[in-house]
Amino acid sequence: MTESTFPPTADGSPARPDILVIGKPTPFVSGLIEPAFTLHKLWEAADPQAFLAEIGSRVRGAIAGFGGHGPVGADFAALLPNLEIISSHGVGYDHIDARAMGSRNVIVTNTPDVLTDEVADLAIGLLLATIRQLPQSDRFLRAGLWLKGTYPFTTSLRTRSIGIVGLGRIGKAVAHRLAAFGVPIAYHGRTRQPDVGYRYYPSLRDMAEDVDTLISVAPGGAATHHMINAEILKALGPEGIVVNVGRGTVVDERALIEALASKTILSAGLDVFEDEPRVPAELIAMDHIVLLPHVGSASHHTRQGMGQMVVDNLTSWFSGHGPISPVPETPWTKG
Ligand code: NAP
Ligand code: 8YV
Repeated sequence: MTESTFPPTADGSPARPDILVIGKPTPFVSGLIEPAFTLHKLWEAADPQAFLAEIGSRVRGAIAGFGGHGPVGADFAALLPNLEIISSHGVGYDHIDARAMGSRNVIVTNTPDVLTDEVADLAIGLLLATIRQLPQSDRFLRAGLWLKGTYPFTTSLRTRSIGIVGLGRIGKAVAHRLAAFGVPIAYHGRTRQPDVGYRYYPSLRDMAEDVDTLISVAPGGAATHHMINAEILKALGPEGIVVNVGRGTVVDERALIEALASKTILSAGLDVFEDEPRVPAELIAMDHIVLLPHVGSASHHTRQGMGQMVVDNLTSWFSGHGPISPVPETPWTKG
C-alpha cells in the first residue's frame, strides 16, 4: 500500500483527491493512480449521468483521453463544480473545450514531446508503405501470387516533393527524417517560422499545387476542420498522395473518398479518421491505400511515457506545485 504524498487533510489523515477517470486507463497508469487517489470510474457506470450526479461534487481532478476521444465540454464540467484539473492522455486535446475550462479556472494538461519521435517514425513508415505499397505486396506474397508473376512497379519517393501541413513538434521531426531521404520539403501553417529553412506557404492551396505529397500533422478543432478538401486534393493532382497522422477531421473524408475513387489523386495513408473507430466502407474497400487504426504513438515505450505524464500532472497539481504541461488555453501562474 503506497501512502499518499499529498498534503494531509484538516483532520491529519492523508489526502487522496477524488479523481474521475473517464475511459479505462492502461494497467501501467492504473497501477500508479490506484494507491494515490480515490477513483471514480465513469466507464464502469451503468448510468453515467446518475453516477456523475452522485459523485460529481467530490471530484477535483479528471483523467481524459483513454478509451477514445469522447467530448469533454462545458456541460460536462458543469456536473463537476469542484473540478480543478483535467489531465488528458495524448498531445491533441481537440476533444476538450479548453477555453470553456479556462473560463471555469479548470487547468487542462496534455502529453507533448514524449510521443513526438514515435509518431514521426510512424509517419515515415506510413508514407513509405503507401508509396511502395508494402501491405499490398505482403498480401500478394501470402496469396501465392508471386509464384505466378512479379509484383507491379510502384510510384517512388525519389521523384516526390513533400508539403507538411502543421510544422509543429511532430511535423518538424517528420521533416528532419525526410531531409535524410533527400526530398524537397515545404510547409504550411498559420505562421512562417523564421528559424526553419524549408519553404513556407501561407496558402495551403498554393503548396498543394507545387508538391505531390501532403503529410498532415495539424491538430483537430474548428480552425482546421476539413482544411484538406476537394479543392486541395484537385490542386495536389493525379500523382498526389495524402498521409494523415494528425486528426481525421482535418481531411474532408467524403472529398478524399471521391478523389481516390475518381483518381483525382493517386493514394492515401491514413492513421486517423473523422469518426473513429468507424472507418467508411468505401475506404476499407480500396486496395490502393493504407489504413492504420490510430497507432501513431501506440508502442509500449511511448504509451508508458504518456501515461507517466498524465499521472505526474495530477500528482504535481495536488502536491501544490502546479501542472507540468498545461495547454496554452489554460496557462498556470503560481499564485
Ligand atoms: P504542435 O507542436 O502544436 O504542432 C501543431 C502545428 O499545427 C503547428 O505547427 C501549427 O502551426 C499548426 N497549426 C495549428 N493550427 C493550424 C491551422 N489552423 N492551420 C494550419 N496549421 C495549423 O503539435 P504536435 O505535438 O506536433 O502534434 C500535432 C497533432 O498531431 C496533435 O494535435 C494531434 O492531433 C496529432 N497526433 C496524432 C497522433 C497519432 O497517433 N496519429 C499522435 C500524436 C499527435 P501554426 O501555429 O504556425 O499554425
Ligand atoms: C493517442 C494522439 O492515440 O496524442 C495524440 O494526440 O492522437 C495519440 O497519441 C491518443 O491520444 C491516445 O489517447
